[in-house]
Amino acid sequence: MPNNFEMQSPLHVGIIMDGNGRWALARGLPRQAGHRAGVETVSRAVEAAPSLGIGALTLFAFSSDNWRRPQSEVGGLMALLAEYMERETPRAVENGIRLQALGRRDRLDAQLRAAIGRAEAATAGGARLWLRIAVDYSGRDASLAAARTLLDLSRESLDRALGPPVDLLIRTGGERRLSDFLLWESAYAELVFSRRMWPDFGADDLAGAVREFRGRERRFGAVPRTPAPAAAGWLD
Ligand code: IPE
Ligand code: IPE
Ligand code: MG
Repeated sequence: MPNNFEMQSPLHVGIIMDGNGRWALARGLPRQAGHRAGVETVSRAVEAAPSLGIGALTLFAFSSDNWRRPQSEVGGLMALLAEYMERETPRAVENGIRLQALGRRDRLDAQLRAAIGRAEAATAGGARLWLRIAVDYSGRDASLAAARTLLDLSRESLDRALGPPVDLLIRTGGERRLSDFLLWESAYAELVFSRRMWPDFGADDLAGAVREFRGRERRFGAVPRTPAPAAAGWLD
C-alpha cells in the first residue's frame, strides 16, 4: 500500500546548508568542527529524503564566493568534501543513491576531483535518490555556462541544460537570502527558512519543511483554488 508521499511526484529539494561556523563558535569550537558536524547532518538528511518523497536533493556545500574565506578554512572544507565522497560512495551504491557534483571542477584540487569522478562513476545507476552536491557553485555562472552551450537559447533549452526545477528551497542558519544558489531553477520554488544552524537540523526538521511545502498552494501565476483572506502583517 503506497503512502501519501509515494503517490505524489518526487520532489526536488534544494538546501542552503548554512550556520556551521556560528554553531561551532557558540560552543567555543573552531569553525572546522562546525563543518565536520554539518557532514553528519548531510548523512541524516540523505537517509531521510526518500521516505519523505524527495527524489532529488541538491545541497549547497561550497559557493564560488566561499573562496574568499581564509585559506585554512577552504582547505578544511575541501578535505571534508573529499572524505565525504570517498566514505559515502559504497553506502550510496548500496542505497541506490546517484551522487553527483554540481559546479566548476577546474579550481578543485586533484584529490577532490578524483574522488568526485569515482563517486559519480560508481553510483551512476542509483535510482532511489539523485543527490547533487554543489561545490564551487554559482547559480549565475551555471546559467551563463549552460547558455553558452546552447545553439537555440530558449526557456525550455536552458531548463534542460540546467536541471530540474526546484520545488522546495530550504535555508538553515536564519538568513533569508539565496546567496547565488539555483537561481533559474528556483523560479517557482517554495521557500522555507529555518533558524536552526545546519549541524542541528534533524530529519524531523526536514520532514517539517516538507510538511510546510505540502500545505502550500502553488499557483504558478494562476488564481487561487481556495481564495483565503490575505495574512495580516507583512512579515512572519
Ligand atoms: C555553511 O556554514 C557552510 C559553508 C558556507 C561552507 P557557514 O560556514 O557559512 O556558517 P556561518 O554562516 O558562518 O555560521
Ligand atoms: C551560502 O552560505 C553558501 C553555502 C551554504 C555553501 P554563505 O554563508 O556563504 O552565504 P552568505 O555569505 O551569508 O550570503
Ligand atoms: Mg554562512
